[in-house]
Amino acid sequence: MDSLFDSAQNGESREERLAELSRQVSVCTKCDLAMSRTNTVFGTGDPHSPLMLIGEGPGENEDATGLPFVGRAGKLLDDILKAVDLTRNDVYITNVVKCRAAVEEGGRMKNRPPKTGEIKACNPYLQGQKEAIKPEIILCLGGPAAKTVIDKDFRITKDRGKWYDVDGVKAMATFNRAYVLRQSGDDLQQTKRLVWKDVQAVYAEYQKAMEGRG
Ligand code: URA
Repeated sequence: MDSLFDSAQNGESREERLAELSRQVSVCTKCDLAMSRTNTVFGTGDPHSPLMLIGEGPGENEDATGLPFVGRAGKLLDDILKAVDLTRNDVYITNVVKCRAAVEEGGRMKNRPPKTGEIKACNPYLQGQKEAIKPEIILCLGGPAAKTVIDKDFRITKDRGKWYDVDGVKAMATFNRAYVLRQSGDDLQQTKRLVWKDVQAVYAEYQKAMEGRG
């Protein structure tokens, strides 16, 4: 439940604030991604969770369904959460950009990284989500999310697994699915181990946050 202070301060609940933001996103035309999207992908999960997961942006499956991290990326996320006894309903999941960035290649639309201007145009929505949810912990999934949320010079191979203070919120980044799948052999095993280690550290903070709430 929102504290009385929260409600008295802005006159609306987290759910109401998020619903309004989501409505704004659904009709947003602040960048060209609006022209090619099927659905906007706002975010899902528990708006009262201490833990917010932030990915890069919707892919094909997310664009088709309007939900973040579905399909194969979603399966990996579910497996990661399950390993620490969490489900999607225990966390809040969103992305840096809310529309799919894609480019046509050989008659097919292929995902591409969002451009700086697209990330900037979308940033007020992410900020709004952070202000509404007030997470205590943020886990960025992949370098692009970490560059937006933690530090523009973030280097995923060097800086992942470390805690950063982002406006009073503990933030960490780990590898995303695309990065993990680019590895093979021993590198793949080592990368998976690192993701596992990062998620354990995040879960320890999640447990502390939950204990702190009594
Ligand atoms: N799916 C998402 O919603 N975000 C990502 O960053 C990757 C896959």
